[in-house]
Amino acid sequence: MNLSDKFARGQTMFFRFFADVFFAKRYGHRAVVLETIAGVPGMVAGMWIHLRSLRQMKTGYGPTIRELLAEAENERMHLMFFIDIAKPNALERALILAAQAIFWNYYFVFYVFFPKTAHKMIHYFEEEAVSSYTQYLEMIESGKIEDVPAPQLAIDYYSLASDARLSDMIQCVRADEQHHADVNLRMATGQLHEEVSTPFKQDEASPTAPSNVFLSEAGGQG
Ligand SMILES: [Fe+2]
Ligand SMILES: [Fe+2]
Repeated sequence: MNLSDKFARGQTMFFRFFADVFFAKRYGHRAVVLETIAGVPGMVAGMWIHLRSLRQMKTGYGPTIRELLAEAENERMHLMFFIDIAKPNALERALILAAQAIFWNYYFVFYVFFPKTAHKMIHYFEEEAVSSYTQYLEMIESGKIEDVPAPQLAIDYYSLASDARLSDMIQCVRADEQHHADVNLRMATGQLHEEVSTPFKQDEASPTAPSNVFLSEAGGQG
């Protein structure tokens, strides 16, 4: 582990500690609040690379920008699903406001100076998200949390069966988080401006995903 790894890992453990203390086993609430944070890094990084492309007047950044903005969009959709499952209380709403104000600025400055470490940190964040959705699934499987019907928005977005349950939705969300973890690791290890992957499979299935419209209109180049 080099210094960058240690810092990225340390930051992740720091945030994880607060999430564990604050939410304990309230996984629905944990998901709502953390998805409001998860939607930030892709937007910050996508915006910064977009601005870099403008400053340098160079092409070649398009696939990376679209991947990052698609990540932010995907996290925003996760939030919309979980808001159906758990409504944040007043304290959590205040926390979301404070966290967004702090985290946006923190992540922006961090990203400008240390983009690879920033991607590594998001890689670790996403790995934590995978493990916390796995715990959420285990709570449902053991009957401690009711496996309620999945929100209609998630059924449409992931093309799930009409009688899909919360557990089906969480499996899809967890697969998205794994994808984010992989993409951010590749960006952290030097493939920052190469074509990193195909767009999210679920975006193609989603009638509402604007990134797809954008991709076909833009012809996938840039
Ligand atoms: Fe997410
Ligand atoms: Fe994610």
